[in-house]
Amino acid sequence: MKPKKVLITRIIPDVARLLLTDAGFEVLEHQGEGPMPQDELIRRAQEVNALITLGADRLDNYFFSQCKHLEVIAQFAVGYDNIDVEAATGVGMPVSNTPDVLSDATADIAFGLMMAVSRKMFFNHKMILRGQWKQFEPLKHLGMELTGKTLGIFGLGRIGRVMAKRCLGAFDMEIVYHNRSRNMEAEKELGARYVSFDQLLKESDVLSVHCVLSEETRSIFNQQAFAKMKSEAIFINTSRGGVHHEPDLIEALKQGVIWGAGLDVTNPEPMLPDNPLLEMPNVAVLPHIGSATIEARTGMARLAAENIITYYQTGKMITCINPQVLS
Ligand code: GLV
Repeated sequence: MKPKKVLITRIIPDVARLLLTDAGFEVLEHQGEGPMPQDELIRRAQEVNALITLGADRLDNYFFSQCKHLEVIAQFAVGYDNIDVEAATGVGMPVSNTPDVLSDATADIAFGLMMAVSRKMFFNHKMILRGQWKQFEPLKHLGMELTGKTLGIFGLGRIGRVMAKRCLGAFDMEIVYHNRSRNMEAEKELGARYVSFDQLLKESDVLSVHCVLSEETRSIFNQQAFAKMKSEAIFINTSRGGVHHEPDLIEALKQGVIWGAGLDVTNPEPMLPDNPLLEMPNVAVLPHIGSATIEARTGMARLAAENIITYYQTGKMITCINPQVLS
């Protein structure tokens, strides 16, 4: 029998290629620096049976209309807002993602941003680079402490739960959260208290976003939301930039409506170097590195490959997003 062909749309840790090759698949890899242009992605997808995709690949309705022949897709990311899952489901195509393996790494970035913002670390570092560190300043650039503060989690799933655990252990923070449905396990483990979205905005000293990007959550952190937050609040987003309205966030920070912000995701990405957020003392921005550890990226590559192998061996996937298409 001819081997099944799997296209990996970027170079990812080698474990994916090795596992697939060992299992008898023929592996093709896009060697370029960035994502393929859409027409090339479609053309190359038409020549294979399965794909390992990344967040920058656009798998929209048109893509699925052109690539109905694909048998399975494994996304190398936990987020999959780049994939029209309804369209995939419509053509009976199973899609998987890579949850769990990146939860620690991403929560660490949320925690690190919270620390960096609370003590204006990125700004103070820039001061040294600019030769502006002259002497001990008794009154300048004072940060704020986190011990005993209230952490609000928007989207208490796997990553939010690790972030909450870190904050509870390190700073004895009180945890409140808002989700579509209650997370009883986390309530038990962390003493987390479920609150309405408005209450989350009102009570949080640090508000950390860990939800998926959907039509429901797009721009949910906008002018109206920021206006309900405390003026000393820190806003952290490590999920997707589309969840906050960036011009509204900039304005809220400029006007002192909220105190600070830490972002690993921006809107758009990449953020341009002249973005005013980059010059604000109480802001820390990173270039979407939540899962950028050796451990997480290796785990993601392994899980993506194992999802494809498991699909062909058993008809199931380990972490399928649309399991209703699996018989
Ligand atoms: C990264 O942003 C991911 O969704 O895995």
